[in-house]
Amino acid sequence: MALHLIDHPLVQHKLSIMRKKETSTMKFRELLKEISMFMGYEITRDFPLTYEEIETPLMKMNAPKISGKKVVIAPILRAGLGMVEGLTTLIPSARVGHIGMYRDEETCLPVFYYYKMPANKNRLVILTDPMLATGGSACDAITRLKKDGYTQIRMMALVASPQGVKAVSEMHPDVDIYLAALDEGLNDKNYILPGLGDAGDRIFGTK
Ligand code: PRP
Ligand code: URA
Repeated sequence: MALHLIDHPLVQHKLSIMRKKETSTMKFRELLKEISMFMGYEITRDFPLTYEEIETPLMKMNAPKISGKKVVIAPILRAGLGMVEGLTTLIPSARVGHIGMYRDEETCLPVFYYYKMPANKNRLVILTDPMLATGGSACDAITRLKKDGYTQIRMMALVASPQGVKAVSEMHPDVDIYLAALDEGLNDKNYILPGLGDAGDRIFGTK
């Protein structure tokens, strides 16, 4: 497993604004979209290129283009939805699946409620969820994707705890993780510290 920390100053600056408790829902959503685009540059960095002959107004040339890399973006509902638009802006041909799960408030264990992915499994899956806390949701989502036939999976999160990274890397060592920040740990309710609070509530304004 490789851990990619996206430490670009613009990403770090925007994330700091998102963390502030006074940041509005509107701003929070806008920043998450922007950061997702920046992270999208990194997650697609190794996409293979092929060359096609084109004609500029002046001459012919062999121009690079992405060589048939098929992508499906798979947000873990709800909060993962906040990262989709930034990625589809970068990769307009990407398909979008949906993985519905919530973390039970008492047990902190993930509960599945919806799963819909494209029929063609020969695609790179970019699994999105801003928060990787205990790692339970991400681990279960990846297990489900693999059971469904997906073999190439990358995880894109905004903020993670060391426990969450460890859980995913132990259960799914083939899955690379892309993060904007690796935080200190978890509180007694398994919220990331210092974190940014409840990402779903902050994106959708439900609290
Ligand atoms: C949050 C978050 C992750 C999960 C992380 O979702 O978006 O999916 O918790 O926790 P874990 O790593 O300990 O599993 P939540 O259950 O709050 O659902 P929501 O997105 O609908 O708000
Ligand atoms: N889910 C969130 O939205 N935030 C956390 O810190 C942990 C789980």
